[in-house]
Amino acid sequence: MKEKIIVTGGCGYIGSHTVIELIENNFEVVILDDLSNSNEKTIDRINKITGITPKFLKVDLKDSLKTDEAFKAHKDASAVIHFAAHKAVGESVQQPLKYYKNNFYSLLNALEAQSENGINNFIFSSSATVYGTPNVLPITEENETQRPFSPYGNTKKIAEEILDDYTKSNKEFSAISLRYFNPIGAHESGEIGELPSGIPNNLMPYITQTAAGIREKLMVYGNDYPTKDGTPIRDYIHVVDLAKAHVIAVKRLLKKEQEKSLEFFNLGTGVGYSVLDVINTFESVTNSKLNYEIVGRRDGDVPQLYASTNLAKEKLGWSTNKALDDMISSSWVWEQNLRNENN
Ligand code: UFG
Repeated sequence: MKEKIIVTGGCGYIGSHTVIELIENNFEVVILDDLSNSNEKTIDRINKITGITPKFLKVDLKDSLKTDEAFKAHKDASAVIHFAAHKAVGESVQQPLKYYKNNFYSLLNALEAQSENGINNFIFSSSATVYGTPNVLPITEENETQRPFSPYGNTKKIAEEILDDYTKSNKEFSAISLRYFNPIGAHESGEIGELPSGIPNNLMPYITQTAAGIREKLMVYGNDYPTKDGTPIRDYIHVVDLAKAHVIAVKRLLKKEQEKSLEFFNLGTGVGYSVLDVINTFESVTNSKLNYEIVGRRDGDVPQLYASTNLAKEKLGWSTNKALDDMISSSWVWEQNLRNENN
């Protein structure tokens, strides 16, 4: 019999790619999603790619009764992967309460409901933002976390602290927190990818929307950082590589291979690229010119952030396969497919 995994936020960008990898690894998947920043069409697209339709329940995890009902109906699940959260850094600065309310109510209701229904394995979708402005690079999981600049980032840091307290108090319960660096790219089928609502915050969708003519030009936020070309350096990771790490982490919990009841892993490639590197690679991959302008710095941006990937390699046996060209060309294919569909 297939093991069942509950995926909250499974219609979202990273969630949907992970659902595909889970299905391809022979898991049964139940998606809980409120569709606040995603689309139910994703379910059909997952079917198109895998031949299987995951079960879908439209649930707002802020509602504790509905959350409990959903978990009760699937109490035979072996683990939960919790993606459901708001994630726009800028919006979280404008509307902190929306972020604290949504991200914490959802997390706490999911934890409570799953424990009450005897599901004791949990994968948390965290972020490299918990490292704040690091003093050491590449950054290892041993580094102290710092209060992130944004309320969004702070929800990730505090969620990790909640998991720390909870795993200590409940000996049955194990969790893995996966700290993502900068996920970009899309599934090779071109069927699923990121669906940013409104004006994108992140670099990659902003680039592809500019190239597609939806945005007039890309603003490059600062070229006076202490980096090789003055623009900030990040560790971009292909979303499919990232998704695969979730499957490995689930298997680790199911086989009880974890060494501590709460483990943390960086998910990055270990290689940093500047904003101009990304733009130049986009131009060469697509053989086009991107309209961009260097403007002032954006609040809260750190000069450099890239991962040490040693722990994930050693303990999970996971490493990334896809290079920056692949990430960028798949993002571009996805953007073009989206445009064709909307026209
Ligand atoms: N950038 C631009 N112009 C844009 C958008 C981004 O120049 O229009 C630059 C940023 O200044 C930054 C780089 O591109 O130097 C990457 O920016 P992103 O917004 O794509 O990514 P961030 O590194 O700022 O944010 C990511 C995740 C967040 C997470 C954060 C913390 O998207 O969820 O990392 O590390 F909180």
